[in-house]
Amino acid sequence: MYNVTFYLRRLHSLVGLLVLGIVILEHVMTNASSLGGPEAMNSGLAMMEMIPKPIFYGLEIFGIAIPLLFHAIYGIYIALQANNNPGRFGYMRNWMFTLQRWTAWYLVPFLIWHIFYLRIYTKGICGVPMSYELLDSYFTNPIVVVLYTIGMLAAIFHFCNGITTFCMTWGIAKGPRVQSVVSVLSMLLFLALALVTVAFMAHYVLL
Ligand code: HEM
Repeated sequence: MYNVTFYLRRLHSLVGLLVLGIVILEHVMTNASSLGGPEAMNSGLAMMEMIPKPIFYGLEIFGIAIPLLFHAIYGIYIALQANNNPGRFGYMRNWMFTLQRWTAWYLVPFLIWHIFYLRIYTKGICGVPMSYELLDSYFTNPIVVVLYTIGMLAAIFHFCNGITTFCMTWGIAKGPRVQSVVSVLSMLLFLALALVTVAFMAHYVLL
């Protein structure tokens, strides 16, 4: 039993960093292309549509849906076992641990809403392709803008802080000095990606 738990946790960790990490980076980059205007974003989206359908659906199912389902379901199980105590121990790491859990809890309903509404309902059922114009009209509702901005920032924090915990879990960052260097670098990455995200979300609202 111990071995099964050990390997499941390692798989959860690998999937979070390597598979979902690529997905979130791709999302930030695609959405950032909206800053270049409708043509820049639509041509990027059109290139993705050129991927042959069986490969595209294969990537969506095996590269996103199954890894995400596994990471989310096993993550809920881990989070339910976790003991959050930032108030009792005011250390930075405890706060980061708690934020890792809070962002995970936010991501559960957010990702269900995001995937069902945009991918399954809008694109899948109604057959409306993703485009700059679609997102621009979607983000006219201030509630949607706020919930999406929080969702993106939550996913980015969860991923970036996950880089630090990954390096600890896998013994890549041994010792407090190396761990704090990794932690600072991953928070710098968080700041950079968060800034880009706030910029493209603000641009939908302001332009
Ligand atoms: C859908 C809801 C999600 C839930 C419930 C969830 C849950 C969790 C939990 C509980 C942990 C900590 C594991 C531990 O302490 O060992 C974790 C770690 C992690 N998650 Fe998630 N997660 C979710 C979505 C995501 C997404 C979208 C990404 C990518 C952007 C992601 C990337 C990571 C990474 C990189 C780690 C660190 C792995 C490690 O510490 O070795 N997660 N997740």
